[in-house]
Amino acid sequence: MCGIVGVLGQHEVSPIILDALKRLEYRGYDSAGIATVHQGTLDRRRAVGKLINLSDTLVHQPLPGRAGIGHTRWATHGGPSVANAHPHQVGRVAVVHNGIIENFRALRAEMTEAGAQFSSETDTETIAQLASHHLDQGMTPVQAARATLKRLEGAFALAFVFAGEDDLIVCARRGSPLCIGHGEGEMYLGSDAIALAAMTDRITYLEEGDWAILTRAGAQIFDAEDRQTSRPLTRVDLAQTRVDKSGHRHFMAKEMAEQPAVLQQALAAYSGAGGIALPEGLDFARADRLILVACGTAHYACQVAKYWFEQFAGLPVELDIASEFRYRAPVLGASNMAVFVSQSGETADTLAALRHVRGHVGQVVSVVNVPSSSIARESDVVLPIHAGPEIGVASTKAFTAQLQVLALMALEAGRARGFLDAATHAARMDDLRAAPGYIAQALDREDEIRRLTEMLANARDVLFLGRGAMFPLALEGALKLKEISYIHAEAYAAGELKHGPIALIDRDLPVIIFAPHDALFDKTVSNMQEVMARQGRVMLISDAAGLAEVDDVPHWLQMPAVPPLIAPMVYAIPAQLIAYHTALHRGTDVDQPRNLAKSVTVE
Ligand code: M6R
Repeated sequence: MCGIVGVLGQHEVSPIILDALKRLEYRGYDSAGIATVHQGTLDRRRAVGKLINLSDTLVHQPLPGRAGIGHTRWATHGGPSVANAHPHQVGRVAVVHNGIIENFRALRAEMTEAGAQFSSETDTETIAQLASHHLDQGMTPVQAARATLKRLEGAFALAFVFAGEDDLIVCARRGSPLCIGHGEGEMYLGSDAIALAAMTDRITYLEEGDWAILTRAGAQIFDAEDRQTSRPLTRVDLAQTRVDKSGHRHFMAKEMAEQPAVLQQALAAYSGAGGIALPEGLDFARADRLILVACGTAHYACQVAKYWFEQFAGLPVELDIASEFRYRAPVLGASNMAVFVSQSGETADTLAALRHVRGHVGQVVSVVNVPSSSIARESDVVLPIHAGPEIGVASTKAFTAQLQVLALMALEAGRARGFLDAATHAARMDDLRAAPGYIAQALDREDEIRRLTEMLANARDVLFLGRGAMFPLALEGALKLKEISYIHAEAYAAGELKHGPIALIDRDLPVIIFAPHDALFDKTVSNMQEVMARQGRVMLISDAAGLAEVDDVPHWLQMPAVPPLIAPMVYAIPAQLIAYHTALHRGTDVDQPRNLAKSVTVE
């Protein structure tokens, strides 16, 4: 979602901020802007659409200054327009903001009553109006920022610059991540370390509730109670902040291709002398129930994992979508282990669900790709998935890496609870070790998949079916297709077909069926026959043994024969490639599909 950048530099900052904003493009945005302070004067440029539009604006109307803030906006309050784009400037102050100010209506009414003229529909403008009001009352910029922060409710990260102050940025973090970068006689601010990677690898992450005063000499950090505090300065591994496509046409293509290496890497990270080495503190033996909570693709990874925890560890699993979880009355207990799965580690609903269970369950565990993320910081035990930065909005390598870590957890749970004998445990570990090789074989089918997707390019709807762990895979396939090709797609457990969705079947409806030759194959094939009997356009994805048992299937893709444990990881590849090539046929924006954000930091 929105991205924030701030620079107190030794040179002109507009180009530096623009470059940093480009590194945040992956988060998703629909307008952008920059404000600088030059010889005491505060000014700004804003543009709707991609950053190239802001860049063009800056060519025609340069924005001088060695201090500034920039923003990419993903619209929440008010559509994408120049007036709604950040920075919002009122009088002597300009503000950029991520998140939502929940009490903005009350504040707006109060400021309007006091004579303020609003020029946008945003919640953010109330922040600028309030700060400006405090400045007019004679407060210093820091006092005005602090007094403003005290009035705000909601989850946000924000940064202020002030006319007359070209060595000052005030920033705050409450709910949305923010980090400070340290340079030589320069200071930086960013939504994440990726934004600042071209400037510095020396990063301080603000903690929840912190606010800070930045000057070129350094940062003074205060906690939520206004006590001056210090936060550790960390060196960021620059390899973790690389955002190049490495010769691929899209980030998504690169990230799909990386999957064999990523899985190998993660497996190595969790391998120890005795087999699996998971972080200390993870105690499956004292867990009587597992609660898995996540959103989107991460939720589907959890849905697959439910089968594994039940099968390999005999552990009851409760599964929920994070945005639903805390609005029911989940029954929680001291012997429950709650596991939160999130690529970004910043998803607002998942983070809120984690906070909801804190103190009510025995163990709070997270499976994340970003170990410095809020979800990781607030967990008792963190299991990184070691996937490296995922830039494409459509999650690919994070999904297979999440599956792998969850599979390791399930096998370890089985061992710790005495549910899985040593030989079976060793055999399943061998299966996991074989996964990268099979994934590479699946990736080699790309040309075939590209040809198959020609039949999808003009489809209005697509149906995905699967049984067992292939059902969540079908859900993931449908999500990927919707996200990047904008084709309406639905997924059902194949056995559910007769209970409603079969009414949709006609000769125009492509039906994609994931069916490895496993214990459920015959049942899935029966459902496929029901589709074919109604002229549905079936595409069967199976292995040699499966395909040998069916004839007359109009479209099929042969996958390698794989052990059931790793089938979801291997079949994820056609699910991803089908979406990718369909999107290419349709000419959509694969890496930054419309309306979507990479990291969903608002509810
Ligand atoms: O960062 P997270 O894993 O918490 O994100 C959850 C979802 O927003 C995410 O998986 C989303 O569904 C992806 N765009 C799917 O490709």
